[in-house]
Amino acid sequence: MRRRLAAGNWKMHGLATDLTEADALARAHPAPTVEVLLCPPATLISRMADVLARTPLSVGGQDCHAAASGAHTGDTSAAMLVDAGATHVILGHSERRADHGETSAQVAAKTAAAHDAGLVAVVCLGETEVERDAGQTLAVVSEQLRQSLPGSATAGNTVIAYEPVWAIGTGRTPTLEQIAEVHDHLRSLLPDHEMRLLYGGSVKPANAAEIFAITNVDGALVGGASLKAADFGEIIAALEAADGGTS
Ligand code: PGA
Repeated sequence: MRRRLAAGNWKMHGLATDLTEADALARAHPAPTVEVLLCPPATLISRMADVLARTPLSVGGQDCHAAASGAHTGDTSAAMLVDAGATHVILGHSERRADHGETSAQVAAKTAAAHDAGLVAVVCLGETEVERDAGQTLAVVSEQLRQSLPGSATAGNTVIAYEPVWAIGTGRTPTLEQIAEVHDHLRSLLPDHEMRLLYGGSVKPANAAEIFAITNVDGALVGGASLKAADFGEIIAALEAADGGTS
């Protein structure tokens, strides 16, 4: 049975004052029946880990370097994330693929480094609007999946997030049929049937329940709507309801 996961990606948002949102979330959901993860910017990982200590909520990074250490100014190793209190790391997000030219091969190397350090990797993939319009969605995500996962990937240390690039931060979401099509396809390709498969891209309280009702959607990677405890809390409740738990 795959444990459902609600993961929040704060991206480059958040100062120390915003830790009140993490605290409010933990207080509102002291015993979630699904797994809950918050990934703040690197500067807040350690302090958020302190805020969420003694709660079931986990903290993750948003990227790590493929090397264990070395002359890489500005980068953060997987072991450093662990040291700061992270248990997870988002890798291969489309914003990093676009802003930093990250290739799937680099994502695989980073994912292997995350595994070596004991982190759970949330590996992102998804098609652009041009690729979808050209009918290439399934081919693109298949290839990204194949190239982005190292041999070390198991259901225990890896989560996949399908995030159509054109749906991220735009308020646009694919139809439920389009999400189902991609998730069914990815599920058939995953090396381990127990590996979890999240949907990401403009998930919000208003659409969470219908997305979580889709077979093969094991949770969500949430950007904008994870910044406020009230909104993310509603999404967590929708995931708990889909799971048959109480919210
Ligand atoms: P969004 O971002 O929910 O703001 O669309 C999702 C993501 O990029 O992980």
